[in-house]
Amino acid sequence: MSNPSILILPGDGIGPEVMAEVRKVIDWYGAKRDLAFDVSEDLVGGAAYDKHGVPLADETMAKAQEVDAVLLGAVGGPKYDVLDFSVKPERGLLRLRKEMDLFANLRPAQCFDALADFSSLKKEVVAGLDIMIVRELTSGVYFGEPRGIFEEGNERVGINTQRYTESEIERAARAAFELAMKRNKKLCSMEKANVMESGILWREVVTRVGEEYPEVELSHMYADNGAMQLVRAPKQFDVIVTDNLFGDILSDCAAMLTGSLGMLPSASLGAPMANGRPKAMYEPVHGSAPDIAGQGKANPIACILSFAMALRYSFDQGDEATRLETAIEKVLADGVRTADLMGPEGGTPVSTSEMGDKIIEALDASL
Ligand code: IPM
Ligand code: MG
Repeated sequence: MSNPSILILPGDGIGPEVMAEVRKVIDWYGAKRDLAFDVSEDLVGGAAYDKHGVPLADETMAKAQEVDAVLLGAVGGPKYDVLDFSVKPERGLLRLRKEMDLFANLRPAQCFDALADFSSLKKEVVAGLDIMIVRELTSGVYFGEPRGIFEEGNERVGINTQRYTESEIERAARAAFELAMKRNKKLCSMEKANVMESGILWREVVTRVGEEYPEVELSHMYADNGAMQLVRAPKQFDVIVTDNLFGDILSDCAAMLTGSLGMLPSASLGAPMANGRPKAMYEPVHGSAPDIAGQGKANPIACILSFAMALRYSFDQGDEATRLETAIEKVLADGVRTADLMGPEGGTPVSTSEMGDKIIEALDASL
């Protein structure tokens, strides 16, 4: 049987340098755990625009459809701000999500013990935090029609449409209930059923799917209250399910609770392929950070943790994912710090690639 395949799309800014550290980890699994992957690499975002005039070439899109998992770095940068909307780096990312039909976006927000002081909230509010946001990723106001800027009388009007079908809500809800079953059997659904019809339908459908999961304690919350509760008492949540736009905003809020955006991975999952693996793309939650690109300052952990999610969700290697996560915790507990993690208590400052090396050392020590 051939090795499982991975397409790496490093993208822009710090994407290439953090992805170089992921490559070390992938190679380690091939060499030390007999888990070899066929890895190929291609362009996305501004890097693809520079070469092809589009943020994602058709050939790259076709490759992404074929592999077992896509690992993406980050896209965008000030250089591309002037581009037409249709070819902005972000369009490459949105095309991947839409055409691969990656409807369930899993965004864990986990507070590492060694970093609890980094949160802008009090330590006791966030210590031990471990929540998972499931964001619907292929529909809603991001993609709904009509959309555009139109002439209306003597002025222009900008239009976007929030649109959800029952089946779109249902599949996102099901993904969230399945996760809840594997975690603490607690799910909170967030929408604005008080002002939006799409929210009323969302609540109805989530409730209906919930009847298939009687063990899961389901609650509903208006998304604005949800934002408030996330900051007030985040540990009341375990799994949260919400739509595309609310999920975009709430996941940034949840990410920042942990104090370190450089630590958070994500998985975007679609329907199972012929080989039983879900269509999948993994990427760090952080952006391309053009201000620090190329200086060895970036934290590669979010991107490496995204590979851990790939081990767990695409390759059925939950134990190896845990090994990698534990290695990272160990490195942090030892006080190894990239620039973004350097707090008043100090630590051993390391570059992007030195952090990768430390993680490899911890993996070696785990054997
Ligand atoms: C995210 C990002 C994207 C989004 C952008 C880059 C298009 O903010 O993944 O959360 O809005 O979905
Ligand atoms: Mg976002």
